[in-house]
Amino acid sequence: MSSLTASNAWKALQNHYQQIQNSSMREAFNHDTQRHSKYAVQLNDILFDYSKNRINDQTMPLLRDLAHYAELPAKIEAMFTGVAINTTEKRAVLHTALRNRGNQPIYVDGQDVMPDVNAVLEKMRHFCHAVRSGEWTGYTGKKITNVVNIGIGGSGLGPKMVSMTLTPYSSDTLKVHYVSNVDQTNIIEELKGLSPETTLFIVASKLFSTQETMINANSARRWFLDSAQDTSAIAKHFVAISTHSENVAKFGIDTDNMFEFWDWVGGRYSLWSAVGLSIALYIGMDNFEELLQGAYEADLHFRNTPLEKNIPVIMGLLGVWYNNFFDARSYVLLPYDQSMRYFADYFQQGDMESNGKSVDLNGDKVDYSTGQIVWGQPGTNGQHAFFQLMHQGTQLVPCDFLAAANSHYHLPEHHDVLISNFLAQPEALMRGKTVEEVKQSLTAEQQHDVELVASKVFEGNKPSNSFLFEKMTPKTLGTLLAFYEHKIFVQGVIWNINSFDQMGVELGKILANAILPELKNQDVIQSHDCSTNALINAYKKLRQS
Ligand code: F6P
Repeated sequence: MSSLTASNAWKALQNHYQQIQNSSMREAFNHDTQRHSKYAVQLNDILFDYSKNRINDQTMPLLRDLAHYAELPAKIEAMFTGVAINTTEKRAVLHTALRNRGNQPIYVDGQDVMPDVNAVLEKMRHFCHAVRSGEWTGYTGKKITNVVNIGIGGSGLGPKMVSMTLTPYSSDTLKVHYVSNVDQTNIIEELKGLSPETTLFIVASKLFSTQETMINANSARRWFLDSAQDTSAIAKHFVAISTHSENVAKFGIDTDNMFEFWDWVGGRYSLWSAVGLSIALYIGMDNFEELLQGAYEADLHFRNTPLEKNIPVIMGLLGVWYNNFFDARSYVLLPYDQSMRYFADYFQQGDMESNGKSVDLNGDKVDYSTGQIVWGQPGTNGQHAFFQLMHQGTQLVPCDFLAAANSHYHLPEHHDVLISNFLAQPEALMRGKTVEEVKQSLTAEQQHDVELVASKVFEGNKPSNSFLFEKMTPKTLGTLLAFYEHKIFVQGVIWNINSFDQMGVELGKILANAILPELKNQDVIQSHDCSTNALINAYKKLRQS
């Protein structure tokens, strides 16, 4: 038995779960009209309501006991102060330094990282100004009109998600595109209609060796040189974002056109670094800095607020409550905002790459469940797809609902209808619908149809959190993203795992590299298991070389 599951704090939660597993949230709301104010926290314009959860007055204190058992406050401090909490890679985890708008010194190996952080921000500012103003031109003297970010995982998902969310802040004259997949469809479709004369490529890769990114970057370079016919023109059209200047130079990008970041920035936490260059080009550097400011304010809140009012801590502890005591294996992100359509994709990497681990910090196999499966889609689309399972299926799926009180656009009708759904779904999930209520809405004959009645009953008691904010601004988005990042960290601390490495992506890469040469010849392959051999040999027969 691990020390976590043997701890008094864990056992107290197990007992508490036995006591309250069948308690009804609907009854709790009926008995306590103050339940919302008891379980809500506000930061700036963001209201976080967690009252529709399977909790009572004892639950949060017991979860906080678990947090103290895991030494969460000390671990938060360790992260912010540059302790090497990524223990397998022996690195600090300092994405918070990238948005440290107070500019307090932060030391890694005795050296303050802030001067370097600020220098890169300044370089980004100059570059964005030059490109957006037209001072920076392509090789024929034309203004840049399209930016193509080539990068995968953290080097693609974050910039894409933020750019799409903040499109209302974008310039009309500069479009951004994202290429990540090694499937050529991605780059071919993104480059359709673009002109090499006015296209700028950002090649973003922490180590500048990721196979997908390098292949896409090479194809981009060929596409460009087919028109430009002159390698000296590359400097005007290719910039790099990386921690690895040697690999950047080897690829043929002038290191003057390289924006640096550092090994203490994890890929999935890197959008705050120069990896966010495509965002800054798209929405302008001032707005990018507003995004950083929003995250900074969330960081201050996370670092300085007592656990009972600390939004990421509450989010993380509730996640542990459902994952480890209610056996809820997934949670769903439901932004009622079409612009946030990549939010769930982004946090799939953020959460699942961070906490999808099964050994603890001592190298022992855990005896409890860790990372949850993250999924989601914008409302109201999701309602017409998977909400059926959430309301009446057999799985418990905790939900996060997010919405802005104001849209950036002004068509009549839409927004109130959107928000009525954002409000109604958590209510329906919580309240459910009893047999008696079902019968009231049926004719006398229908009331005797047992199957019909049963099919219309909603058990209810399904938990959710709601975030309501004034408007989706760069600052609000920054705060929300940092809340979720810290939530993931909180859970990693409770589970005693390293949330900052990603060894689980390695094996598949190694095997793919072994298979690749086998695809290049006509030999019958016999070096794998019979299934893999058969698939390789079938591919070689089917492909039209
Ligand atoms: O999926 C593994 C991973 O290393 C991610 O953590 C990272 O975001 C992605 O690949 C891309 O890595 P890089 O920025 O080095 O190309």
